[in-house]
Amino acid sequence: MLRGTLLYLANRGSIRHFVTDNHLARRSARRFVAGETLEEALQATRSLNQRGFSVSLDHLGENVSDAGEACSAANDYIAILDAIKQASLDANISIKLTALGLDIEAALCEENVRRILDRAKSYHIFVRVDMEGAAYTARTLELVAKLRQDYEEVGAVIQSYLYRSAKDIENLIASQTRVRLVKGAYKEPPEIAYPHKADVDRNYEHLLRLLLAHGNYPAIATHDPRMIQAARAFAAANDIAKTRFEFQMLYGIRRDLQKQLVNDGYNLRIYVPYGTQWYPYLTRRMAERPANLFFVISNAMRG
Ligand code: FDA
Repeated sequence: MLRGTLLYLANRGSIRHFVTDNHLARRSARRFVAGETLEEALQATRSLNQRGFSVSLDHLGENVSDAGEACSAANDYIAILDAIKQASLDANISIKLTALGLDIEAALCEENVRRILDRAKSYHIFVRVDMEGAAYTARTLELVAKLRQDYEEVGAVIQSYLYRSAKDIENLIASQTRVRLVKGAYKEPPEIAYPHKADVDRNYEHLLRLLLAHGNYPAIATHDPRMIQAARAFAAANDIAKTRFEFQMLYGIRRDLQKQLVNDGYNLRIYVPYGTQWYPYLTRRMAERPANLFFVISNAMRG
């Protein structure tokens, strides 16, 4: 309820402009976003790698309505892949289909994703297709399934707040497609998504067990200590080696837990977003934790 209200408020034009136009607010956004340029993102990646973390780079952008912009987003990702390869970084990429033209035309989007995957395949770099709002779930999973026939290097994201997710996970396990499991960050109606957090958490635990037992190198993406403990306990009880899955967390969030997991010998990948289009990403982080909203607004007011 609070999360939905915050997402609504944050997307109002007046608040968006207040935050994006205010240089102090922009600076505080840097806690969650690695910078606006590829060079800054690569520097953050290097530093994370040195501390034992793998990375997934996200060049921020979503819902583009111009075909040229969608093609240029794909070109940017190809340049990121080249940079990862050239600098021998321990990193892969996360892409959003609406940044690559899904709102314009499915064929254009597919062509852009295939261009990215061709380059990724040549470097053996993995490409994660992020999951966006529920209007895109079916189309995203259909495209991933189609691409999976030609590319090993592509994987999906499943959100535990959606009722449909158990069935989707079953299909993804059957095709041995790699899955990142998240709770879900968008505002969805109770007809399709659990309205109560306790149910989202319960489903997350259920799905993580399925993935750990039968999935292909699943990614348990959460900052929730209870979910992390559930994964650790299930893996230990079922002799699932630490090398058969990874944890994932967002840049700048729960750095204490991030360090702990690496110290305990688990694989951990940090999702590193960068770019000028950071506002929608920031609103989702603010809605998950109102303290983040107050952090950004109060820093801005100090100006
Ligand atoms: P939950 O929200 O229950 O929080 C548990 C605890 O984690 C909190 O008590 C707090 O300590 C900490 N925490 C959580 N969020 C925080 C924040 N913003 N700031 C500070 N502390 C915070 N979603 C989606 O719909 N599609 C996607 O493709 C992805 N991709 C993705 C990749 C990765 C690597 C991660 C970690 C997450 C995503 N998500 C996502 C976001 C996900 O759906 C979810 O919204 C957030 O991870 C928050 O949920 P938690 O599981 O962390 O738990």
